[in-house]
Amino acid sequence: MNLVMVDGSLIPQGEARLPVSDLALLRGYGVFDFFRVVAGEPLFVRDYLRRFARSAALLGLPLPALAEVEAQVRAVIAANELQDAGLHLLLTGGDSPDGVSPGEPCLVMQPRPVKPNPPELYTVGARLISFAHARELPEAKSINYLTAVRLRDKQRAAAATDILYHQGGLISETARSNVFVAQGGALKTPGRGVLAGITRMRVLELAQDICPVQEADVALGELFAADEVFITSSLKGVMPIVAVDGEPVGGGRPGPITRALMAAFTECVEAYCQSHKP
Ligand SMILES: Cc1ncc(COP(=O)(O)O)c(C=O)c1O
Repeated sequence: MNLVMVDGSLIPQGEARLPVSDLALLRGYGVFDFFRVVAGEPLFVRDYLRRFARSAALLGLPLPALAEVEAQVRAVIAANELQDAGLHLLLTGGDSPDGVSPGEPCLVMQPRPVKPNPPELYTVGARLISFAHARELPEAKSINYLTAVRLRDKQRAAAATDILYHQGGLISETARSNVFVAQGGALKTPGRGVLAGITRMRVLELAQDICPVQEADVALGELFAADEVFITSSLKGVMPIVAVDGEPVGGGRPGPITRALMAAFTECVEAYCQSHKP
């Protein structure tokens, strides 16, 4: 797993270099994306690459044509013989002439090991802590995770899986996942000010067969009163939430809609892998 792609060239990870004047290093200006490789296949790769392109466009950074990016993704998977792993794509702000103007972006693809989450996070449920915060340019998957990294010790001390962001009484998402609440048999997820999660998109589709679902504002109070709460992400799939800041939520146990969507999402991943077998 030690070959990385830098601007179209495969090189050993230890030899990969960025100029110290790259805006990603000087100003934290850049975008990334991350998806799983399952049984050698990049899961939902076209959805992720479309989002990567959207993020790049929001920062005004040029990206090669998506067919070329996908060819590079497949070359990294083949060169490293990846079976079950993660792939991290990074597009930097580029080598800046004046420390503030973007230069020619650098495109880096890096395999990452993925270890399974502890099963009790799905059977018993996971915990969150909350924090009043709004991500800047939330529709872009920018490399700025300052709040998430800064609060990591606090999160660990609370044995929390993630950090729930809220502002003005409304929740948005967590530091690395989207959030859903179920109340009275219907599902809701914030519809603005969030990253368009690929898992969120799949869950919105799958939920059509399970219960009414809408994208709309969710108040913090609604989350605490909800019958069920869960989060979604590429690394977590669908994960039930049973406590926020030490207060029980969603009845303190994974509920029926959450369990139905956990099963449906697992099936959806399996079906994708079956239909994309090399
Ligand atoms: C801020 C944020 N929101 C939501 C998500 C979930 O998105 P996805 O399901 O595409 O992993 C992520 C994933 O990293 C994230 O960083």
